[in-house]
Amino acid sequence: MTTTVPDQALSQPTARGSEWWRSAVIYQIYPRSFADGNGDGIGDLPGITAHLDDLARLGVDAVWLSPFMTSPQKDAGYDVADYCDVDPLFGTLADFDEMLAAAHARGIRLIVDLVPNHSSDRHAWFREALAAAPGGAERARYLFRGGRGAHGELPPNNWQSVFGGPAWTRVTEPDGTPGQWYLHLFDASQPDFDWTNAEVRAEFRRILRFWLDRGVDGFRVDVAHGLMKKDGLPDYLPSAKDGSTGGDTGAVPYWGQPEVHDIYREWHDVLAAYDGDRALCAEAWMPSIAETALWVRPGEMNQAFNFGYLMSPWDAAALHDVIDESLHEYGAVGAPSTWVLSNHDVIRHASRLALTADSPQGEGIGPNSPGRPDPVLGLRRARAATTLMLALPGSAYLYQGEELGLPEAIDIPDAARQDPTWFRTNGERYGRDGCRVPLPWVANAPAYGFNITGASWLPQPIEWARLARDVESADPASTLNLYHRLLAERRDRGLGTGALAWVDGYGPDVVAFRNGNVTVAANLGDAPVPVPAGRVILASGPLHEGGIPVDTTVWVATD
Ligand code: NOJ
Ligand code: CA
Repeated sequence: MTTTVPDQALSQPTARGSEWWRSAVIYQIYPRSFADGNGDGIGDLPGITAHLDDLARLGVDAVWLSPFMTSPQKDAGYDVADYCDVDPLFGTLADFDEMLAAAHARGIRLIVDLVPNHSSDRHAWFREALAAAPGGAERARYLFRGGRGAHGELPPNNWQSVFGGPAWTRVTEPDGTPGQWYLHLFDASQPDFDWTNAEVRAEFRRILRFWLDRGVDGFRVDVAHGLMKKDGLPDYLPSAKDGSTGGDTGAVPYWGQPEVHDIYREWHDVLAAYDGDRALCAEAWMPSIAETALWVRPGEMNQAFNFGYLMSPWDAAALHDVIDESLHEYGAVGAPSTWVLSNHDVIRHASRLALTADSPQGEGIGPNSPGRPDPVLGLRRARAATTLMLALPGSAYLYQGEELGLPEAIDIPDAARQDPTWFRTNGERYGRDGCRVPLPWVANAPAYGFNITGASWLPQPIEWARLARDVESADPASTLNLYHRLLAERRDRGLGTGALAWVDGYGPDVVAFRNGNVTVAANLGDAPVPVPAGRVILASGPLHEGGIPVDTTVWVATD
């Protein structure tokens, strides 16, 4: 086997400085589905606090918490009515403080989700805007416009909501007449802010400081590519193949406008005034990794989710290329790459990697979808994919439940679905409920130990009993124990701060590289391949005498 010596760009950024976010494993908690302390069927902050020991044992460095702020929950909390308070559904600010202190006491950092592109229509500012006359300061915080057509009866432009249907809703003016329209790139209950407005900018600096003062370690920034809209709001229609993220041309008038970066330079300075290494992570679905890397240039944000990696097919050449490109593009701006396979918006990778039909991001999968994945194949590939990912230098994101090997919940009854995508497309797109089902903790308990009452805001599949945490804890071969070992070896061997060197010679169906004293080989072909020389320290599945079986990854130590 030959080893390609990494150039400086591949090795430098994760090693620079000692900032934790360059190499951290960050575990995403989706609060409504993690653990339910009061038994109402919806997870909450006390539920999280009660399970922090499990996360400490798992070995994660940080937690990212999806939104828990005051919200009517039209988009599961991504519709915020008060950015500086906790929704009673999830607890209180005191519960938050207790949770944060408990996390820090265990050496776990906490980043919170900030949703600056839009508020809820229940936000005080939007209510004031509706009550005010057109043209006033109250409406100038959002994007109100007159309609087209003789009587303003047509939307101001042809933009479509990411969740389906028009991106504009017409209001009834306080005097009862049909009036202006407001922009919402997502649900009608999520009006977009106008980020050219100084009051909006000042308010978000205040919100950042509110949470920084409480001690959070950073923010995951929702729709970080969408805050600025092109002047004049020109017409634009994405093609169907672009899925809900819209647009691969780089010319979408609401994504990635150059002016958006000024906002993050401002925020960078807000964070820099605090002690410790506080971090900003961009959720920016841009068409290429090179464009996503613009969010993590010096003086802007620290990390950006690597959706190019997440969307990669289970194909050796594609994975090799996306890893290489990521290390180069993020490295070129002095940032670490991030790695991610699952989150609350995509089909869980234990199902996605075995899909046999196309499923654009956001569309989801349900009982009538084509290409239903084989769960055994999906889990084998998911374990192999994670074993590959956790050996890469940089920061890795895990999504709650993937450590149990949870598949997408496909057979959720129509009547139980809650994603606005499902409603706005009249059931044409299933949306994201299937990756949001409450976690199974204990096989023989109500709601599999999610709470003690058995209530669950989405139904849990019966097959999940065997994936419950207590069952997997007791099984050395379980996915949970694989994750435990992966995280421990990654930490002990410093892989997060390491450097990658490609290893050639295994043929086109194998992804093979070295990081420090570990050689990693993932077999994505259809026949076994030889195990690299050295001592096998980890394998995503059983190894046979013939070598590394299909859809299996190994870590081999050469020390
Ligand atoms: C991205 C979030 O991850 C998703 O869940 C949400 O629906 C949209 N942004 C809108 O806030
Ligand atoms: Ca609850």
